[in-house]
Amino acid sequence: MFAKRRESFMQQMEGGVALFFAAPLKARSGDTSYKYRQDSTFFYLTGFHEPEAAALLMPDHPEEKFVLFVRPRNKERETWDGRRVGPDGAKKTYGADAAYTIDQLPDKLAQYLENVERFHYAMGRDTKRDALVVSALDKVKAQGRKGVVAPSVFLDPAAVANEMRLTKSAEELIRMRQAAAISSQAHIAAMRAVRPGIKEFEIEAVIEYTFRKMGATGPAYNSIVGSGVNATILHYIENNGTCADGDLLLVDAGAEVEGYSADITRTFPVNGSFTPAQKAVYDVVLDAQQKAITRVRAGVAFDSIHQASLTAIVEGLIRLEILKGEPEKLIKDEAYKPYFMHGTSHWLGLDVHDVGLYRNGPDWRKLEPGMVLTVEPGLYFSEDSAEVPKSFRGMGIRIEDDVLVTDGNPEVLTAATPKALAEVESAATSDVADPVAP
Ligand code: GLY
Ligand code: MN
Ligand code: MN
Repeated sequence: MFAKRRESFMQQMEGGVALFFAAPLKARSGDTSYKYRQDSTFFYLTGFHEPEAAALLMPDHPEEKFVLFVRPRNKERETWDGRRVGPDGAKKTYGADAAYTIDQLPDKLAQYLENVERFHYAMGRDTKRDALVVSALDKVKAQGRKGVVAPSVFLDPAAVANEMRLTKSAEELIRMRQAAAISSQAHIAAMRAVRPGIKEFEIEAVIEYTFRKMGATGPAYNSIVGSGVNATILHYIENNGTCADGDLLLVDAGAEVEGYSADITRTFPVNGSFTPAQKAVYDVVLDAQQKAITRVRAGVAFDSIHQASLTAIVEGLIRLEILKGEPEKLIKDEAYKPYFMHGTSHWLGLDVHDVGLYRNGPDWRKLEPGMVLTVEPGLYFSEDSAEVPKSFRGMGIRIEDDVLVTDGNPEVLTAATPKALAEVESAATSDVADPVAP
């Protein structure tokens, strides 16, 4: 799978040398670091999981088309920090044609760049790496009088790699379906666990327990578990409030499986029953979400998904008597913005907000089979918004699914997550005293 991707990248890069770095380790506190996660593109092209690594792709090289630089084997370090494959493992397990220890990168890079015209490297993301690259280029240039030519064309490999990542292969979809299935189960577990008095972090624990229990790496992003007014904070991750009787709980959580994300939001009543006001708003958001999902088809412009959801949201706000006037004018004037302030969709894949251009030049790009996007309209009424009826204030509702573009109807990867009002109420009513009790 990874070799096939490298082959495809090398066919599209039109010669030269491409350099990719592994994600850096990030300090969490003192001398401890965050749990390591590989850079998505580095993983996509190499399958390599360790930090302190770099890869070269060189389609014009007679033998060494794929070179890895990795940490050396080190018995003591491996006892403390875990196994390393070392250069031999990089060749045997990861298919590198040649492999070196990472400390050799500056010298080797300079050698590989001799008489190469095109150099593909994402400059500007990390000053230390940029300095290493510049110094390798200086070394090549210093040999000018010996007739050595240094690269003169600099390209960001993302132009090719991001486009490759945007269209998901069958192997990728297996992992995305798995991430979606696990995330659906976690949302069902959350609905069953919720009851008045439970803490948001208990629900977070149920969700993330389900992720790990079912074999996911963990959350693909920080889980958002916001009850009551907390649901109106889009990126609420404190998750330390108490779920109160009569409130809604908004859960935005998705699992990561072999690097691939799911991204689901559901909003459900803490006590199992929507109030009439909650029901009215839920109906609007669900209607907008379903209309937008129906629009997901090959050949359709990315933005028209948002336009479909926006039109339904504005029509709903008129029905709720929050907005007055003609939908077209209200949309033009962005009258909905105080209540629906985010987009409807983003690409989904190895990154939760995945790579890939949203426009081709001035035009929104057209959807193609294999692309996966979220559809996630929402309505948020702040506590102090005097213009909305009291019964709506402090309410936040978002509904989010992950949708695969196919040759025909859209495939909702997260369809197993309850969404219809009655289904959500029924799942949130089933009382589980302690969902993670042994
Ligand atoms: N959970 C992040 C998002 O929905 O985009
Ligand atoms: Mn999302
Ligand atoms: Mn989300």
